[in-house]
Amino acid sequence: MSKLRIAVQKSGRLNEDSMRILKDIGISIDNGKDQLKASARNFPVEVFYLRNGDIPQYLKDGVVDAAIIGENVLIEKGNGIRVAEKLGFSTCRVCIAVPKSVDYKGIQDLEGKRIATSYPNTVKSYLEKNNISANLHIINGSVEIAPNIGLADAICDIVSSGSTLFKNNLKEVEMILKSEAVLAVSPLLNEEKQAILDKIQFRIQSVLKGRQ
Ligand code: PRP
Ligand code: MG
Repeated sequence: MSKLRIAVQKSGRLNEDSMRILKDIGISIDNGKDQLKASARNFPVEVFYLRNGDIPQYLKDGVVDAAIIGENVLIEKGNGIRVAEKLGFSTCRVCIAVPKSVDYKGIQDLEGKRIATSYPNTVKSYLEKNNISANLHIINGSVEIAPNIGLADAICDIVSSGSTLFKNNLKEVEMILKSEAVLAVSPLLNEEKQAILDKIQFRIQSVLKGRQ
């Protein structure tokens, strides 16, 4: 019998809650995340611990069948990947922020500016929608440092508690989208695996109801 391959974030803000929901639906994982792959003891499931940003491509290619991933990452990289279920945790928003000292009047103030971000596609389409052209600097982490070191005039990144913005003397000026963890599904799922996924989804729905 084939197993459903589920990707979860290897480390980071989604990892703990992802493992908790798998546990809550009765899927117990044999080995810790030191290994990149683990089998469930009692369910035809294999868990793959992967880097967030790699997961959408793995879903597209059918290398994994499903994933617990932030909607924000799917929107950035996940063209056409289906969301089966919203999971209600790891809520955040993707925002544009500028130094506190800037007298920001509106999105037109971003015209011609340098924006540092790990979400280039998301920012690009937001700016295009608003008829703004800006220069994007793509960086993979610690984006909020960019204005302080003279690399950019603004940043676009996820905001959760707001603490990273605060610590870096930045203020949120545009909210692009809201995000939470979701169960995402590969477009290449076969019937047998779909049946396993259906069971998992049913259990997830019960757990989420219980949490309300
Ligand atoms: C994430 C994100 C923000 C911050 C938002 O960074 O990129 O910087 O968390 O959370 P907050 O609003 O609660 O402060 P992370 O710490 O994961 O590190 P990275 O950007 O270097 O990947
Ligand atoms: Mg960060």
